[in-house]
Amino acid sequence: MTSQELRQKFIEFFEAKGHILVPSSSLLPKDDPSVLLTTAGMQQFKPYFVGLKDPQVELGGRQAISIQKCFRTADIDDVGDDTHLTFFEMLGNFSFGDYFKTEAIQFAWEFLTTVAGISASCLSATYYNGNRPGTTADIEAKLALDKLDGLNQVSAQPDAENFWGPTGTEGPCGPTVEFHVNGVEVWNLVFNEFYCHPDGKLSPLPVRGVDTGMGLERLSVAVNQLPNIFATDVFKPLMDKLGSLTPRAQRIVADHIRGAVFLLGDHVRPSNKEQGYILRRILRRVLMHIHGSGVRLEDLINTVIDLFGPVYLDLTQNRESINQFARTEADKFSRTIDAGEKELAKLIANGTPRLSGAEAFKLFASYGLPIDFIKEKIPVDESEFDRAFVEHQSISRAGVEKKFGGHGLSAGAAIDPAEQIQITKLHTATHLLHAALREVLGAEVHQAGSDINPERTRFDFNFPRKLIPDEIQRIEAWVNDKISTGFSVKHETLPYAQAIAAGAVAFFKEKYPAQVDVYTIYNEDTGKVISQELCGGPHVTNSHDLGTFRITKEESSSAGVRRIKAVLE
Ligand code: GLY
Repeated sequence: MTSQELRQKFIEFFEAKGHILVPSSSLLPKDDPSVLLTTAGMQQFKPYFVGLKDPQVELGGRQAISIQKCFRTADIDDVGDDTHLTFFEMLGNFSFGDYFKTEAIQFAWEFLTTVAGISASCLSATYYNGNRPGTTADIEAKLALDKLDGLNQVSAQPDAENFWGPTGTEGPCGPTVEFHVNGVEVWNLVFNEFYCHPDGKLSPLPVRGVDTGMGLERLSVAVNQLPNIFATDVFKPLMDKLGSLTPRAQRIVADHIRGAVFLLGDHVRPSNKEQGYILRRILRRVLMHIHGSGVRLEDLINTVIDLFGPVYLDLTQNRESINQFARTEADKFSRTIDAGEKELAKLIANGTPRLSGAEAFKLFASYGLPIDFIKEKIPVDESEFDRAFVEHQSISRAGVEKKFGGHGLSAGAAIDPAEQIQITKLHTATHLLHAALREVLGAEVHQAGSDINPERTRFDFNFPRKLIPDEIQRIEAWVNDKISTGFSVKHETLPYAQAIAAGAVAFFKEKYPAQVDVYTIYNEDTGKVISQELCGGPHVTNSHDLGTFRITKEESSSAGVRRIKAVLE
């Protein structure tokens, strides 16, 4: 079945059950400051759930469907696997004070097994186990699931899996039922019954209802029994143009170019802030990957517009401006790359087998050449590079901030100076977070992994249960206290044994060389150390200019491992 057939069948199925088709809203949310981009179909319907607007008056009914353009930056690191995308189309049915759990579950089952023709034996479902204080297990959902004939497996899961929302800091949310096909989540049915306040407290929602979301690409994989989302017809023509890239780069470019075209189509323009910055990052990542490959940006853009133009008419209307803004960004990027590349070529022509950190640093500082780009051409002494960065940072603290580092970047990402500054700050904030976790939860907490990009830090640590809101608040407060007090950050290179003997925290999964880099966060007057870790850096030289630290997400990562995502604002 083609994607267009799936879209059409979804619409027909729910229209026949009395739903009103509502067009996708823009990727730029209107009247919703809690999020930068539209991440779910329910966002345009929030006023109906919170009782601010009457759907009967606005839409002419209490049941709706949409095929919503969504963009999820939170999934950017997962792009490249079989199931994750930044931009995707979400099929959703909604009830605003009309039908509830039992009907929603029956509708989904009927659609999946009869219209989409998915065999019941491939389907399993999960429902909410009621672990969150003030809520109970979703027995109503369980009873409805138990009635489905042939459903393979039903299991109860905690809120990390089966409680959805709010988008942003507050809003409607509730327990969910997820349908999985061969183990992959395909459809999420949210039963909005709570309003989540900024402090995490839940209160009953004025209008209970249903909000569902099913990724068109995953549905197509399930229906057509394909190996991954990039094999679907919405990607095939794009993938065919990318044969000269590595398999992972093909997927990243295919995902990002779709996202970039849709963002440009919704009038987002490349810039250094907010939505424009997201667009710039994904476009530059595309440019980076296709640089020198013979793949042409215009060709990719027009392939996306040809693919989606018949469904999203304004893409075709905006073909010219989409191309024009993308071209301007590409020209900017290539001027940077070209000048830096010439210098790099000279160094390579001199016969150097390896660039010193200082040389690599100069290529960035003078030409803006990203470290990832350099590394693709020639090996670089990265720890020296990081040190040069830190030094440069302390020298130019008062001046124009032009800083960069080379750690924890998404592979191949082209990073501009503003991004590098943010990454550096997040490195230091991550050490403070680690120390705060040990302070609040106990010294047995240790790092199990981490990843930093310009938007956020992601930190995994061993801990057996979900954190309670009070713990999260105490962790944030501890970190913010250290930020506002202003602690110095010192960098030393020490023999490994000496560093460990001094009490430096090491990431036990890693193998360390004989000489290690140690970063210490301490009070210059009293000498009191609040964090000491083995780390490649880069870091700021004092914690006072980090901004405000906020935990945006706490969830399960794997058995016994929790994951925190946090930002600096
Ligand atoms: N709002 C439902 C979902 O995004 O999965």
